Amino acid sequence: MSDKRSIGIFDSGLGGLTVAKEIIRMLPSESIVYFGDTGRVPYGTRSLETIKKYTRQDERFLLSHNVKMIVAACGTVSSVAADTANEIPVPFVEVVSHSVNAAVKATVNKKIGVLATNATIRSGSHKKRILELLPDAVVIENSGTLLVPLVEEGWCDADDVVVLKTVERYLKPFIDARVDTLILGCTHFPMLSKAIAKVMGNGVTLINMGTATAVAVKDMLIKADALSDDQTVTHSFFVSDKADSFLHLASRLLEKDLDESSVEQVDINGL
Ligand code: DGL
Repeated sequence: MSDKRSIGIFDSGLGGLTVAKEIIRMLPSESIVYFGDTGRVPYGTRSLETIKKYTRQDERFLLSHNVKMIVAACGTVSSVAADTANEIPVPFVEVVSHSVNAAVKATVNKKIGVLATNATIRSGSHKKRILELLPDAVVIENSGTLLVPLVEEGWCDADDVVVLKTVERYLKPFIDARVDTLILGCTHFPMLSKAIAKVMGNGVTLINMGTATAVAVKDMLIKADALSDDQTVTHSFFVSDKADSFLHLASRLLEKDLDESSVEQVDINGL
């Protein structure tokens, strides 16, 4: 049976587009509705209560678009608010567990780094799961707080000295510990992957949570017999502030010419 309803994807801002990109690439017949809470980004520095409140509103917004599944394309939400999934009537996909599986498969020296937001690191979500799967792993964690606004501002160029210096500072603990695998535990960070790879060097595998999650989304849809066979897919984007800059960065990231009609600014405060 074909289920033509869209996949709902959300993040605090632009970061979730790195997940949306992989889902679009892997599932070209699926329509998507993306919500970026650009008016309230970052989530990663906020309290647990606030992140949960925002998450519920994001989920309600996507449900109002009759989505068949919700992907929390946000490491922070996946780490501290995944239990909100119990309150929604459609399957929920988070980004932490799938990326940890990929990291555990990739590591040879069993030294794994996790670069994420403050809230994610505080929750220990990646570390707990890594140690469940690989009890003798050494897990190094660091929060890359300033990297989120850097990406939201569109500063991602690996030749930009400010980008490189900032990235270098956050990566030092991973270099010192000689990790061979680094989880980009915030969905904003794959946008900095060229700069991160430059600093970490060739021998380190970078785990993009989007790639691992897109595989999981595909598997779930196949198992539920809910893939779409639609020939006329739509990709709709909603934000809670500044649709213009989102449009510019989203077009660059998704490598497609999004026009103004594909990004709409909405107010979800009352949801
Ligand atoms: N992209 C998000 C994440 O994966 C959150 C960044 C933020 O809002 O702090 O954690």
